Formats: sequence, C-alpha cells, structure tokens
Amino acid sequence: MKLVTAIIRPEKLNEVLESLFNANVAGLTISRVQGHGGETERVETYRGTTVKMELTEKVRLDIGVSDHFVEPTVQAIMDAARTGEVGDGKIFVVPVEHVYRIRTGEEGRAAVTPVGVPAD
Ligand SMILES: Nc1ncnc2c1ncn2[C@@H]1O[C@H](COP(=O)(O)OP(=O)(O)OP(=O)(O)O)[C@@H](O)[C@H]1O
Ligand SMILES: [Mg+2]
Repeated sequence: MKLVTAIIRPEKLNEVLESLFNANVAGLTISRVQGHGGETERVETYRGTTVKMELTEKVRLDIGVSDHFVEPTVQAIMDAARTGEVGDGKIFVVPVEHVYRIRTGEEGRAAVTPVGVPAD
C-alpha cells in the first residue's frame, strides 16, 4: 500500500477530482495548505537585499491506494493538474505500513479498497 500525496493548484481541484473519479479512486482527503515551490521575491531594505520566501495557496490530496493503483492514480492527477507553467505542484508516493477501516476492523488492502469492490 502507498499514500499518494499531491500538492496542486486550487483552481485545478475540480478537474483532478473528476479525473480521479474516472480512474475509480474512491477515498481521499483534501486540505487547503500553503506551500513554497522555490520562487523567491527580492525585498529591498535599507540594510541591503533580503530574500522573502513566497507562500502560495495550494490544495493537498492524500490518497491511500493498493500498489497496483499507484500508477493510474498518479497519472490521473498529472493529466488533470498540469498547466505547463511553473508551480503545477508535486506528487509524493510513500509506503504505508498499516491501514485499518474502523467500522469493520479490516486491515491492509481490504481496508483501502472501496466497499463492494473485490480487493484483487
Ligand atoms: N520538496 C518539496 N517538499 C514538500 N512540498 C513541496 C516541495 N516542493 C514543492 N512542494 C509543494 O508543492 C507546491 C508547488 O510546488 P511547485 O509546483 O513550485 O514545485 P516545483 O518543483 O518548484 O515545480 P515548478 O518548477 O513547476 O515550480 C509548493 O507550494 C509546496 O506546497
Ligand atoms: Mg516551483
């Protein structure tokens, strides 16, 4: 299992959600975050030039998936979130040790698979 974390442009959220829906991704968490992606603003002060870190509004998606779902999930996000301009965001894929569905006590792949869909 993996956790796919994507940081995207807020204005791309609807397109990304539609793309994920079409890729049969059913469970996800969305947060509004502020991020920094390398862009700097030079601020002149009387003591010389200082560099201010720009913070930009972004949306963070966290999606727990079984391994064979990683590639279609990443592709769905990439296709929908790209504008080609600087600041399109990032996707991180990290290993997940355990997942539990609280209602049933299921764990592992059964717990990240939507209800009603076979785990394989
Ligand atoms: N190394 C990182 N670690 C954690 N979050 C990051 C990292 N790089 C970027 N982010 C997050 O992604 C957001 C968008 O980053 P951004 O798209 O500028 O990435 P980039 O790699 O600099 O790509 P680009 O060249 O298109 O600017 C940032 O505002 C931040 O929230
Ligand atoms: Mg950047």
